[in-house]
Formats: sequence, structure tokens, C-alpha cells
Amino acid sequence: MTPSAQHLSSLETLSDGFLMDVRTMDIGSATASAVIARFDESRFADGLFTTLDVDRPDRLDRAIEKRKAEYLAGRAVAMAALASTGHAPTQIATGSNREPIWPAGMAGSITHSKGRCAAIVTDQPGTLVGVDIEDIAEGSSLDAIFKVALQPEETRLIRESDAQALMATIVFSAKETLYKALFPAVQQFFGFNHAELHRVPGETVLRLRLTKPLKNTVTAGTVFDIGYRQLDRSVITWLVTPVPAG
Ligand SMILES: CC(C)(COP(=O)(O)OP(=O)(O)OC[C@H]1O[C@@H](n2cnc3c(N)ncnc32)[C@H](O)[C@@H]1OP(=O)(O)O)[C@@H](O)C(=O)NCCC(=O)NCCS
Repeated sequence: MTPSAQHLSSLETLSDGFLMDVRTMDIGSATASAVIARFDESRFADGLFTTLDVDRPDRLDRAIEKRKAEYLAGRAVAMAALASTGHAPTQIATGSNREPIWPAGMAGSITHSKGRCAAIVTDQPGTLVGVDIEDIAEGSSLDAIFKVALQPEETRLIRESDAQALMATIVFSAKETLYKALFPAVQQFFGFNHAELHRVPGETVLRLRLTKPLKNTVTAGTVFDIGYRQLDRSVITWLVTPVPAG
């Protein structure tokens, strides 16, 4: 399930400098496809929605250029990942809680952050998929992560690391990935104290454990192994896993 290199480079060419470095990313999954890219907000133009064949929702009429650009970039890589499954070109709508609506039988996730975007898609029924990109936090952003997203025990584990800003960002991002993966299944908002870092993160994977149940679908104590990688001054985290038995 790898998007053809030709398809990805034609996306880049069509975008006239808006999308760059469009490529697949190995996420260690035989059943899911990941496409990652950089995008240049200053090269955004409304006409790119038509050129890249992405429907432009009416609600973007009043949005600032940054929002239009990130929406387009996310949808463009998501449609490329979708195409790699052999699925006919399809638009990806948005649900009432901002979640992407995938074609029947498919699951996926989208992220965009400061000039980077990525999407992961699978055609395996009953799969949870999440992905998130974050800039490595510093200053007040880092303080906010410790204050809002991390519990005291997680902070203690992260303080053991030589790279605290990196680790704190990865755990924060992993929680957002978990939220995006679980939301379509549980249809319930849940905050950062709903999952906790299980132990000091490994080299490429960290484990989050649910501290409370979610609806009737996922029990407290369920663990999720979230993959992660550093991309220059950003991190990407992802999850592709079967829906846990409730
Ligand atoms: C929804 C949320 C995770 C998005 O993260 P973000 O860093 O702001 O933004 P990203 O660019 O990485 O992702 C945005 C994309 O996520 C997807 N998304 C948004 N809400 C979603 C939801 N409820 N379910 C699944 N995916 C969702 C969308 O595709 C969106 O892009 P789009 O609007 O262009 O389609 C975040 O705003 C949020 O609400 N977090 C609080 C909940 C949480 O993380 N709890 C932790 C549980 S341990």
C-alpha cells in the first residue's frame, strides 16, 4: 500500500511550490499508508483547491489564509494516502467534532503544524488511526505542556531524561494522537489526564495507559503503543491499532 512515487511527485508539481518533499513514511505497518509533506503557506492560493481536487468547504470562506492552507495541505496528503489503498479518488468530509469522515471501511487521521502535514490511512476495518505533528516546545509553550497536559508522575519520568523538551513534546503529541485515534470510536471528548505515560519512553515507541474508561468501548488500563520520530525541530507521533475489545 505505497502511493506511487510518480503520484506524489505529480502532486508536488501541480501544487506550484505549495507542497514540498511529499513522500511516504515508514510507520512499521503493513496495513496502513502514511504520507508526509511540507507546505509553504506563502504559496497558498485559493485556486489550489481546484488544482489539487480538494473540495473547499463553505465554512472556510471566512477563515484566514493559514487555516485554508493547512486544511488544503492535510486533505491533499490524506487523499494521496487514500489513493494508495486503491480507493477511487474521494473527498474527506468533516464531522461535527471536526473529525475527518473517511469512506466506508476506511480509517485515517490528519495532522498539520507549522509547514508540515501528514496523514495515515488504512482499509483494514476495525482499526484506530491517529497521527500528530508538533514543534518541539520551548519557553511558555513548554511550560504549558507541563502544566496542562502532563500529570506529576509523567513530569517526574520526563525530568529523568536528558532531553526534557523533546520528551515532553513527544508525550503531549502522543496524547493528541491517541485522542484523534479514539474519538471516532468513542465519540467522547477526553482530556489529557485520561491517559498517562506508562514508563520512560523507548527509542521509537512510548506506551500510554488509559486512566479511565471511555464510554462502553475501551476499559481503564488499556495500553496503546504510540510510535514517534523526530523531524528536525518537530516530532511526529502515530498509532495504528485494532479497536480494543471492550
Ligand atoms: C483535536 C486535537 C487533538 C487536534 O490537535 P491539533 O494539534 O490542534 O491539530 P493537528 O493539526 O495536529 O490536527 C488537526 C486535525 O485533527 C483532526 N481532528 C480534529 N478533531 C478531531 C477529532 N475529534 N477526532 C479525530 N480527528 C480530529 C482533523 O483532521 C484536523 O484537521 P482539519 O481540521 O484540517 O481536518 C486538539 O485540538 C484537541 O482538542 N486536544 C484536546 C483533546 C486531547 O488531546 N486529549 C488528550 C487525550 S489523552
